[in-house]
Amino acid sequence: MSRFYLTTAIDYVNSRPHLGTAYEKVTADVIARYQRLRGVETNFLMGNDEHSQNVHRRARELGLDPIAYCDQMEAEFRTVWRTLDVSFDGFIRTTEPRHRAGVTRMLDRIAARGDLYEGFYEGWYCVSCEAFKQEKDLVDGKCPLHHVEPKWLREKNHFFRLSNYRDALLSHFEAHPEFLQPEVRRNEILRLLEGGLEDISVSRSGQAWGIPMPESPESVVYVWFDALINYASGVGYGTDESRFDAWWPADLHIVGKDITRFHSVFWPAMLMSAGVALPRQVFGHGWVHHRGERMSKTLGTTVDPLEAADRFGVDPLRLYLVKEIPYGQDGDFAYDRFEERYNVDLANNLGNLVSRVATMADKYRGGRLPATTGEPGRLPGVVEAVVARYTAAMDRLALHAAAAAAFSLVDAANEYITETEPWALAREPAQAKRLSQVLHETAEAVRIAAVLLSPVMPASAEAVRARMGGPSATARRFDEATRWSTASERTVVLGPALWPRAEGGRLPGTHDTGKARTMTDTEKDHADESRPASEAAPPAATPTPPQAEDPRITFDAFMEIDLRVATVLAAEKVEKSRKLIKVEVDLGTERRTVVAGIAEAYAPEDLVGRTVVVVANLKPAKLMGIESNGMILAASLEGGIPALVRFDDPPPPPGTRVR
Ligand code: MSP
Repeated sequence: MSRFYLTTAIDYVNSRPHLGTAYEKVTADVIARYQRLRGVETNFLMGNDEHSQNVHRRARELGLDPIAYCDQMEAEFRTVWRTLDVSFDGFIRTTEPRHRAGVTRMLDRIAARGDLYEGFYEGWYCVSCEAFKQEKDLVDGKCPLHHVEPKWLREKNHFFRLSNYRDALLSHFEAHPEFLQPEVRRNEILRLLEGGLEDISVSRSGQAWGIPMPESPESVVYVWFDALINYASGVGYGTDESRFDAWWPADLHIVGKDITRFHSVFWPAMLMSAGVALPRQVFGHGWVHHRGERMSKTLGTTVDPLEAADRFGVDPLRLYLVKEIPYGQDGDFAYDRFEERYNVDLANNLGNLVSRVATMADKYRGGRLPATTGEPGRLPGVVEAVVARYTAAMDRLALHAAAAAAFSLVDAANEYITETEPWALAREPAQAKRLSQVLHETAEAVRIAAVLLSPVMPASAEAVRARMGGPSATARRFDEATRWSTASERTVVLGPALWPRAEGGRLPGTHDTGKARTMTDTEKDHADESRPASEAAPPAATPTPPQAEDPRITFDAFMEIDLRVATVLAAEKVEKSRKLIKVEVDLGTERRTVVAGIAEAYAPEDLVGRTVVVVANLKPAKLMGIESNGMILAASLEGGIPALVRFDDPPPPPGTRVR
């Protein structure tokens, strides 16, 4: 059986995890779960980085012994990861003896290679980065990442001959383009290597908090040198060589873009010097922003991951983080956007689909769908294409594209219901066989969508699967689990809405107490699935998503949407956003600001003077801090660039109603 060794950065424990650090663990967890689903023996390592000065300071502020403080923080971190369903296999702390053994061993090897020497370091040091800084790295005298003034240090240090490894690193980057991804990070580091490397300090003097330097116990090992070695000591380096041989080299280090340099320059150089193989890949993900700033405890711009999960559920949060932030790029987290995506993807789309299939199967077939015998419809072909797109995306770590592929199957299943009109088939006795087949095929497509979503939404995927019948999503290997099968009878089970529609920032029923639906509720729902339909708990006494069999809306419902012709008066790109343009439109009777996601297809200057169609009675929403009053209509294929809806020449005047 093949193996996969995956790691995340280990976290400083001077405060609890925030949604930015949680993002990294959740996305790594998706990769780990995908590998396990493929039948690959997986080792997913996480941990805590405890020898930082800030950790020591925080413990002292609380009047605690640093180790006692770190013990408490370990418990807190583990609680967060457990709540977020992060399925790590190993957890390492840098204060553990096994880690100290690994660090000592690697330093001994590096020293034996002649790559350590004593010298003086004089220069800047940012304690929040735990990094030596050059004057050119500072902005207005401050660290640009933490907006704090670094300290001026002058101390006796041990240096590592990093400069000796520049050529070897460049050759490695050339021979292994996959070593550092995404491409933007690789290019950044290539430029850095081409500019030459200076030797780096690997010890700090005058400090007691850290691992003593072998041969110079008055100094401690520089915290980054110490921390990077966790990836090796976590699988036995220095304590269990046969375990180390079994897992090393690591297949993938997942880290944030701010620390890619440590992982793709220092770490491989350290390994080369110590005569240890290099990891196969480092992936530098982007940052999660909140209110336009990187989420950071130093900057005070954090969101509590447990609070976010409590709002609409753990799996909806995981889905948001994975699907809405292209992996490798920066993305934003805001509660209103989270609510919007929850309603669109889960309440209205997947949740409603599950309800529709279960309701129809129950109503027309008592929940039992016989094995199909007729020529299948178009869904098996869609499944095949979607699974291919999904695996290709997962394999190149485009996690967002994989999630989008899974949702395109959900869309296809919804469309299939619309096309085949099971409610109409049910009225014609001659179509009985066809009705069973349509329902069975739709249930099978939804089951496969659940398999594809299982790395992202493990508990929910199993809940969907349980309703749609068929074997457990995780009980079988990926190839088998995604193979189309309607050859045996299946039982589809009715149950309460999996994702009731959220309003005003809350799920229904949570306004009074202020308590949101949590994991426990999801688990409760799940427990209901295992009971036969006749015993299933009645739907929660809360508004549930529309479950009508006929998805068509009335003429009156359509007329409620106020579509208007508008002329673009001004347009400008929204700062720090790839997709958004702020557009001023003339609606005939008033001027409006609308934020439109069309920047990938249109330059702002090309929009001015154009005639567009605006949804004029949409509730305002804030996008990147700008209030958008309406929506500009555009067509966009999944993953493609948008195309604005336009009129023949001459266009109607602004304010004209579109219907
Ligand atoms: N202890 C070091 C890593 C040592 S690894 C050998 C460290 N710790 S950290 O707690 O500051 O950050 C842990 C991880 O979270 C890093 O990969 C970092 O890039 C990531 N993130 C911190 N803030 C983040 C966001 N706002 N968004 C996404 N990831 C973020 O660095």
